[in-house]
Amino acid sequence: MQIGWIQLVEFRNYRTLEFSPSSHLNLLTGPNAQGKTNLLEALGFLLTGRSFRTSRLSEVPRWEATSSSVAGEICRAEGGRTVRRMIRKLDNGGAQASGDTCEWARVIAFGWQDLDIVTGAPGARRNFIDGFAGRLYPGHLATLLRYRQILARRNHVLQSRELDAEAQLEPWDEQLVSVGMELIGRRRKAAAMLQTELGRVFPALSGVRQKVEIRYRTALAEATEAAEMLAALVRLRRVELRRGVSLVGPHRDDLAIELDGIDVRSFGSRGQQRLIALALRLAEVLPVTEAAGSTPVLLLDDALSELDARVRQNVFREIDGAEQVFLTSPEALPARRAACWTVRAGAVLREGDADVARGSVAQA
Ligand SMILES: Nc1ncnc2c1ncn2[C@@H]1O[C@H](COP(=O)(O)OP(=O)(O)O)[C@@H](O)[C@H]1O
Ligand SMILES: [Mg+2]
Repeated sequence: MQIGWIQLVEFRNYRTLEFSPSSHLNLLTGPNAQGKTNLLEALGFLLTGRSFRTSRLSEVPRWEATSSSVAGEICRAEGGRTVRRMIRKLDNGGAQASGDTCEWARVIAFGWQDLDIVTGAPGARRNFIDGFAGRLYPGHLATLLRYRQILARRNHVLQSRELDAEAQLEPWDEQLVSVGMELIGRRRKAAAMLQTELGRVFPALSGVRQKVEIRYRTALAEATEAAEMLAALVRLRRVELRRGVSLVGPHRDDLAIELDGIDVRSFGSRGQQRLIALALRLAEVLPVTEAAGSTPVLLLDDALSELDARVRQNVFREIDGAEQVFLTSPEALPARRAACWTVRAGAVLREGDADVARGSVAQA
């Protein structure tokens, strides 16, 4: 799928912007703090109604403004659709998003925060696998939300210290187990798909044949039946009541990511860790394409920094197989078949046009 055009009003540092990107690779270059990441955020927001960099949408409208709007055309082989979305700041400091939705739109975004998938706490890896599972299975994120509500209620009972707490737990146990196993089942499938693709993508990027492995890790080992999770809860009942927290379930799980059998957290340079994070994102492309029935738009924020020239070429080769890609960089990059744009102070100029603009200033 592709974004045909996008129009921003009061979005971050953009007062207004009209941008018609190329249908393939778009290179967005410019110095720091000019609006490159903000533009990627807007493209992602158009497609999904979410920001890949913040959960606080109130940060998005331009500081002096009370609302932002984003409109654009999303196209695929079966036809296009015009989508409009708004973010309105609320008096209580929050924000409200509204507007059209496009069920088939998919985006895969890579940013500096993705280093956390490799080096961060388990929560970062759970967010990663849930984001991916959400792109594969519509409804996954709603299930996750439901699970979190059940978990909060169950923890509340565990902390209540009431005499009949154990009896009160029973209905929550059942719900935790049925929704929990549903989440675990989808995450396991998602991790297995990543494993298959990562085995191809990572060596293609690094240029080195290394065995890379990603596995879903849960205290339930290979268990697939709800009864097995229930049994684990019963086993841990005393400890849970003493500590006041739920100790089994998808909220405690993690992903093991290994290179040649070594945990990547303790592996190599930041460049290598960033490359693994990028490979994980690019490994999402094929499974998401198959699940959604059309190719996702790729938003790659500063994805080439800290990578050497040879690896950068490998990244270009890999993304050449994708459909529409937006790649930001503080420096000009040697890419064939790319539309080059300069981002400066909340404006986006086609590189040729930028030259013309500079030329006319020089002549004046
Ligand atoms: N809500 C906002 N209103 C106005 N400016 C903002 C807002 N949020 C961020 N900015 C500004 O946007 C600028 C560019 O940000 P960004 O897109 O991250 O730059 P970069 O080109 O380095 O990726 C920064 O100077 C930042 O202060
Ligand atoms: Mg940036």
